[in-house]
Amino acid sequence: MMPAANPSPPDLPEERALAQALAALASNGIRTGCRLIREGDETHLLPEEARSSPARQPAMRRASGAARWIAHRLLADLGIKNVTLPRAPSGAPVWPDGIIGSLAHDDDMAVAAVATVGRILSLGIDVEPALPLPDDIFGIVVTAADRTGAADPRLAGRILFAAKEAVYKAAYPLDREVLGYEDIAVNLDAGRATTKTGRGVSLAYCVAPRVAVLAFVRE
Ligand SMILES: CC(C)(COP(=O)(O)OP(=O)(O)OC[C@H]1O[C@@H](n2cnc3c(N)ncnc32)[C@H](O)[C@@H]1OP(=O)(O)O)[C@@H](O)C(=O)NCCC(=O)NCCS
Repeated sequence: MMPAANPSPPDLPEERALAQALAALASNGIRTGCRLIREGDETHLLPEEARSSPARQPAMRRASGAARWIAHRLLADLGIKNVTLPRAPSGAPVWPDGIIGSLAHDDDMAVAAVATVGRILSLGIDVEPALPLPDDIFGIVVTAADRTGAADPRLAGRILFAAKEAVYKAAYPLDREVLGYEDIAVNLDAGRATTKTGRGVSLAYCVAPRVAVLAFVRE
C-alpha cells in the first residue's frame, strides 16, 4: 500500500526530509506529519487544550502547540474539523471518537500520527535527535532482551529509546499500564516489540534527518 501523503507541504528542508521519512514508515492508512517548533506555536493550543495542561513550561507549551497544529491538519484531511485534543490526566491526548493517534516532540521538532480505528487499534510515535544516547541513559534504556540487528551501532541506543517511548504510547491507551524501559523488549530487525503485559507492538523507524519511530498495534 502507498504511504499516506503528508497533509500540507512543509516549508523547511528538514521538515520536508522528515515528512518523507515518516510517510515511508506509515501504512494501513496512518497519516503522519512534522513541524519544526516555532516561536509562538503555543498559540496553536485551543483554549481547552491549554487548560488541560496548565502548569507547564513555555517551551513545553510551544512544543505541544506545534504537535497539535500538525494533528489538527491531519484530522482535517480526514474531514474532521473543530475538535479539541486535550491531555488526559494520564498525559495521553484525547482523540475524537473513531480516531487513534499519537504526538511527540524533541527540543526542535514536533511530530504526529493519526488514523481511523480499523485494522490498527492504537498508535505511538516518537522523535529524537540523530545523536548517540548518553551512556548513563543507555544503561537505563537498553536490556539484554533488546535486539538492534542491522541498526547503526552509534544510534542503536537512541533508536531503542525512541522505540520504547513509541511502544509505550501505543500500548498505554489499550492496557492502561505504566511501563518502564525494562518492561519493553524491542527487536529492531523484526520490527516488533513485546511489553511485560504480553502486548505485541509493530514498529518502523528512520534515522535521518532525525530518529523517529512509529509503533502500532494491529487488530
Ligand atoms: C509518554 C512519555 C514516555 C512521553 O515522553 P516525553 O519524553 O515526556 O515526551 P514525548 O515528546 O516523547 O511525548 C510527549 C507526548 O506523549 C503523549 N503522551 C503522554 N503520556 C501518554 C500516555 N500515557 N499514553 C500515550 N501518549 C502519551 C502526549 O501526547 C505528549 O504530548 P503533549 O504533552 O504535547 O500532549 C512520558 O510522558 C511518560 O508518560 N512516562 C512515564 C513512563 C515512562 O517514562 N516509561 C519509560 C518509557 S517506556
